[in-house]
Amino acid sequence: MPVITEIEDLKRLYKRRVPKMFYDYCESGSWSEQTFRENSSDFDEIYFRQRVAVDMANRSTKTTMLGEEVSMPVALAPVGMTGMQHWDGEIKAAKAAEKFGVPYCLSTMSICSIEDVAANTSRPFWLQVYTLTDDDYMQRLFDRAKEAKCSAAVITVDLQLLGQRHKDLKNGLSAPPKLTPKTLADLATRWSWGLGMLSTKRRQFGNIVGHVADVDDPSSLMAWTAEKFDQSLDWDRIRKFRDMWNGPLIIKGIMDPRDAQEAVNVGADAIIVSNHGGRQLDGALSSIRALGPVLEAVGDKVEVHLDSGVRSGQDVLKALAMGAQGVHIGRAYIYGLGAMGQAGVTKALEIIHKELDVSMALCGRRRVTDVDRDILLVPEGFSGRWDDQLRNV
Ligand code: GLV
Repeated sequence: MPVITEIEDLKRLYKRRVPKMFYDYCESGSWSEQTFRENSSDFDEIYFRQRVAVDMANRSTKTTMLGEEVSMPVALAPVGMTGMQHWDGEIKAAKAAEKFGVPYCLSTMSICSIEDVAANTSRPFWLQVYTLTDDDYMQRLFDRAKEAKCSAAVITVDLQLLGQRHKDLKNGLSAPPKLTPKTLADLATRWSWGLGMLSTKRRQFGNIVGHVADVDDPSSLMAWTAEKFDQSLDWDRIRKFRDMWNGPLIIKGIMDPRDAQEAVNVGADAIIVSNHGGRQLDGALSSIRALGPVLEAVGDKVEVHLDSGVRSGQDVLKALAMGAQGVHIGRAYIYGLGAMGQAGVTKALEIIHKELDVSMALCGRRRVTDVDRDILLVPEGFSGRWDDQLRNV
């Protein structure tokens, strides 16, 4: 077993162990992938201020996210088809999150269903909700989340239609994979993945198949998003979903202060500044650049979290110091899951926790709750030449 010291090590193993189709699904942005790349590279423009001779004994990364106690303010983001990265992947990721003491958010587009994850965990998880045209389905989804004791609903508002990821089309992405000469040749070199998949019955979209009527090809994410997703979604409709769900509500996919204000108006308890990991609007600003103006607009009214581009504890610390109250990781834990199953997710969390803890200490802070902008050197106009436009709410 190689010595694993960083998220990149997990990614290398992941690439070897998981079929290309699912590696590419995870590791893609839309169109030219500019936003996908900049989500990560923009973190490099922010620097820490090193402090020395500061007592760094007795540190703590504990805090709360949406009132829940967490061992560090890092949640596992909803990732579609996680159960294709590793058999029973959602259950394994949720178990790792529970043991580590951080929130797990299940995607509507999961392979394991809400009920599967609830039956295998005891910490309440969050459910990410895609907005379909079918009101009955939506009501049932919220009812199922309630029944499963989900502690928050996360409504994604940036995917009424799917941004094109070229590789998914070229690979013929589906769950389960269709057996063609190309996929069979690829699967032949990923035998442990294949054996694992044969050992489970969970190989289809668990929250869709049997729950949504009349989908032409239920194995194709592209097909059923095009058929069933609500392109007319607006804030009035989101208000309706707010009424269907009486627990804590998080709105995910906010990049503009004006939309942040709308989310506050519909009664969100938290928002996630996110461009969907660069998978939707190619050419959008990175999330870390969009964070500041959103915080200025609504930071005193709701919890503001961030996702997209986070690959290290240093990235987490930078987002927290910029003012985010929570950070979500997606690909960083999927690399671990694909590499080593539940142990790999735990490994990813351990790596990020250690990086966060040590970097925080070297910035002269002992508690994550004391981290603020003072530990950073942020280039002037970090939100770019667009600062004034963005702030023009
Ligand atoms: C689904 O959320 C995706 O980005 O593919």
